[in-house]
This record gives sequence, structure tokens and C-alpha cells, in this order.
Amino acid sequence: AQITINGRDAKKISNMLTGVFFEDINYAADGGLYGEMIQNRDFEYALSDKKGRDEKWNATMAWEGDFKISKENPIHANNPNYAVLIKSSVSNTGFDGIALIANEKYDFSVFAKGAKLTVKLKSSAGETLAETTVIPMASWKKLTGVLKSSKTVTDAHLEISTAGETAVDMVSLFPQKTFRNRKNGLRADLAEAIAGMNPKFVRFPGGCVAHGDGIHNIYKWKNTIGPLESRIPARNIWNYHQSMGLGYFEYFQFCEDLGAQAVPVLAAGVPCQNSSDGGAGQQFGIPMENMDEYVQDVLDLIEYANGSVNTFWGKKRAEAGHPKPFNLKYVGIGNEDLISDVFEERYRMIVKAVQQKHPEIIIIGTVGPFFEGSDYNEGWAIANDLKLPMVDEHYYQSPGWFINNQNFYDSYDRSKSKVYLGEYASRGNKFYNALSEALYLTGIERNGDVVTMASYAPLLAREKHTQWNPDLIYFNGHEVKPTVNYFVQQLYGQNPGDFYLQNIVKLSDANDEVNKRIGVSAVQDKTTGDLIIKLVNVLPVSVAPSISVANLGTAENASYTLLSGNPEKTTARPVTQQISAKEAFSKELPPYSFVVIRIKVN
Ligand code: AHR
Repeated sequence: AQITINGRDAKKISNMLTGVFFEDINYAADGGLYGEMIQNRDFEYALSDKKGRDEKWNATMAWEGDFKISKENPIHANNPNYAVLIKSSVSNTGFDGIALIANEKYDFSVFAKGAKLTVKLKSSAGETLAETTVIPMASWKKLTGVLKSSKTVTDAHLEISTAGETAVDMVSLFPQKTFRNRKNGLRADLAEAIAGMNPKFVRFPGGCVAHGDGIHNIYKWKNTIGPLESRIPARNIWNYHQSMGLGYFEYFQFCEDLGAQAVPVLAAGVPCQNSSDGGAGQQFGIPMENMDEYVQDVLDLIEYANGSVNTFWGKKRAEAGHPKPFNLKYVGIGNEDLISDVFEERYRMIVKAVQQKHPEIIIIGTVGPFFEGSDYNEGWAIANDLKLPMVDEHYYQSPGWFINNQNFYDSYDRSKSKVYLGEYASRGNKFYNALSEALYLTGIERNGDVVTMASYAPLLAREKHTQWNPDLIYFNGHEVKPTVNYFVQQLYGQNPGDFYLQNIVKLSDANDEVNKRIGVSAVQDKTTGDLIIKLVNVLPVSVAPSISVANLGTAENASYTLLSGNPEKTTARPVTQQISAKEAFSKELPPYSFVVIRIKVN
């Protein structure tokens, strides 16, 4: 393959093409990214959290021992249940056992009233690994202690015992080492894996979680801020319980810690049309008489993120510990909704209100999922009419679809809305899937003047609690298992460009079916001046490239990263070496490979 790159023929592209789609699905938040190690710490799990009856799923879930649930004088009206122990002990097994590391410290806290509590971390064999005591008063008080584990184990439990009568609530255990050492922080290994992708943005809290199933299940950001004991937990559309400990403040803080743009997505006043509560295809939404209040919630979010400390919601952000604005730029309205009249009326109302009050905010509208017969065109028609700066497209397709449609955006009208490809994946975690995604992303870079952002979905999945496959990163209590698809995202995230450089590719094969299995993209990074070439070979044979670069100074050394392997396996991992640019320009691409060449040009 002869590849000619012309440094003079460059077009400006988005430098924030890859980021993450975070949804609380597959235990991605509680039992996942959120660092809390106690499950059902507030005794608020409820039968109604789960579709289909599961009698175990009640206020005592994940707790064992001798206690009763009481609701008299709770610590907060939003958190009515607490446990009462009388000369007894209770234990919590966390999420499938608590994983501890030897000599690491863990912050314990509890709201309690009554008699002294002995708190222990114990192994499954009953050995005490750490111990502390706290002394409650006659009325509710938050008490804290530090537990240092003597061993590394994966299935410990927390035991609390009293010789008197003691009420407990908000029983909490966090590793002291959270991501960026935040209190109420995030699990460090998972957050580091996300940070390793160098995401330019984080979309949250979904996905379908954003619009919920039924109007009472629409995600309400106001329920997720403030003191933990005052937050309002909710039934998760994915059939479990959301504590809201990971709420909007924590999401914004995570984005800031990552240096990524926050992309909150809010329901368009309608719940998920595919949810069983509503019934597929049903049209229903927040009653119009309540829509002013809902629109105000959306506007208030912008004030919460960006308002000064003298504004009502800006003050709440300051009280949470962040007086400076979060500099929110993007707000998504709607998540792959059915483009019905009910939707359109509410969607237009919200969009217009944000456009009027906050012209500085880039609104990302929705065009529904893209598939044969979907409402995608109707969604685009509304977006055009509203002159939306950006729309959110979603598609989950086969690897073949991604290979055949890499020119998807070539003919998009540049005068219309830009695109945020908010959800996509090629339905598998084999290397072949990852390669088809890498190939497709060469097309996304080529169209980086119309596509602003793209995020693989979903991001996280806890083993034994996975409801959706494939995902990007699997994990359990003590291990993080990035997929091979993750490494494709990582290589793109670590090698973005500001300019797309014209590249002419001459392939020796006359067969288009063969040619379309080779992808090339050349970009230049403004800050370093580096030239970055991405090459994808989805053929079962090697390809010998011959790359020449014109009008771009001289290139000496290159970092050469190769991700290659058996397309049916999941084990390929990137390997980087430093070689001369000359060697990199002619190095054979092995069968089934993705290569990133990064070159300093003088
Ligand atoms: O990513 C999983 C789900 O796929 C999202 O919640 C939804 O938006 C889409 O249907």
C-alpha cells in the first residue's frame, strides 16, 4: 500500500473525539466505580427496586445477624430505615465480599445512637483483620474510625456488635486510597483504567438510566447532591438499587480530575419508550402542567455547575466543597427517545428554554437510535429546525457493518448539527470486533470536522452482575479487566489530533472488499506538532505499506505501537517500541493489526 501524506492539506478536526459513556448499568456505580464497600449501607433497598419479586431484596439485603429495621425518628426523612441491634452483632458482605489489601487503611463511618459499637473486618474464615470501636451518644451522631487490614483477602465482611441497644444507619467503609484521594471518592483502580484512556469527555448518568422507565423513574439530579444521608435513592432501570452516593457533584468532580468535559444527559421530559413499565412504543411524558418545573430543573443544573456562589444552586456546589464553577459547556437533552409528538413537545420546550437562558451552553439533542426503520430522520428534522449545535447518535452493529460503513459521515451536511456518537459497539469483545472499531474510527477521524465526540458503550461491567454485553472494562471486587476493545479506545484517546492531514492511499488490490479492510488516518497534534498515523489491517494477510510524508519537516524517530493477534481471541495487547521514522514507514503490518505511529517532526 502506498500512502502519501500531505502536511499542507490539513483540515481542522475535533480534538476531543474520544471519551467515555458512563452509565450506571452492570453495577457500574454502586459496587463499581463508587468507592463505597458496604452494600445497602442505608438499609433502603426495597422490593420495588427489582422487577419480578425477589423477597431477599429488602431493607436487610446484604446484612446478616440479629437486628430489626425501624423507621422511628430517622436521621433524615429521605432515609427512613435504620437498623437496631440489641446485644447483638450484624455483618455486611459488601458486593460479593469485601476485597481488602494488607496494610491498607479503610475509613469507617456510621450514624449511630445508643451504646458502644465494636467494628471488625473479618475474613470468611472468621479471622479478625482489623478492629476499632466507636462510642455513640443518646442521639444520632456521625462517628468515624480507621481500620487497617492485616491481610489481603477478597471476601471479607464488616461486623458491628454492641453489648447494649444501638441504632445504626449509613454504615460506610471506603478505602483511604480513592482516585485523587477524594472523600466519598471513586475506586482507584477502576478510575485509573478510565483515566488511562485519556478521555476528553465523560457522559453520564446514562443511557437509559437518564430517562428511566416511567415518569417517576426519570433521573433527577437534585436527588443526588448534598449530604449523603439526605440523597434520595432510586430504583435503577437496570433492575437494582441506586444509592446516589455517586451523584452529580461526584460526576463533575471526576470530570475535573480527569481534565475531561462533563456531558450530563437529561431526560427530554419523557421516559424510555422501550421500558416494560411504559410498554414498547407507548407515548407518555411528564404532564404538561409539570413541565415548567422540569425545565427549571434543567436550568438549575447549569446554575449548579456554573453559577457564582451567590446564586442558590451555585451556593450548594460551594457547600459541597467546590466554590469555583465547574465550567460546564455541554448538556444533552434526551436519550435515544422515540420521536413522538409527546416527546417533541417537551423536547422543544426544554431546548428553547436552555437556548434562551444559556446561549453559551452547547445543547446535544437526540435523534433516537440509528437502525433500519428507526425515527432517526425525524429526529434530525427537529434538530435542523431547532438549529441544534449537536445531536447524539447511537448504534450497536456487527463488525461487518462497521467495516462496510466507515464512510458513514463522509456525506454529512457540514452546515447542520455536529454529531456526538454517544453509543456504539460492534457486539463483541474479540479482537476482530476491536479491529472493526479501530477501522471505523479512522473514518471518524477523517470526519472529525462533523463528528465532535464518540464514546464506546457501555463502559463498565461487574462480573456476576453484567446485564449488557459487550462492555469495555469488566471487573470484580479486586481486579480490573480491560477488554481488547479498551486498548483501541486507549490508543485513540492517547493519540488525538487537531488537524486531519490529507492522505492518498493506493492499494495494489483491485478488489474493494479487500481494500476496505485497510484503514489509514493521519492527524497532527497542535501542542506537540507530532504527526500521528493510524493504520488498520483487518485482512488475514500482512500488508507492506510505503509511507511518504510531504510538506511536514523532517522526521527522525517514531514511537511505533502495534496491537495485533488472533481475531477470534481477546488477548491482543499493545506493544510500543522506538524505531526510526524510515523503518516505521515501511514496516510490514501483520495480519489483523492496528498500528499507531507517532513522530516528532522538526
Ligand atoms: O448502553 C446500554 C444502553 O443502550 C443504553 O442505556 C441505551 O441508551 C441504549 O439502548
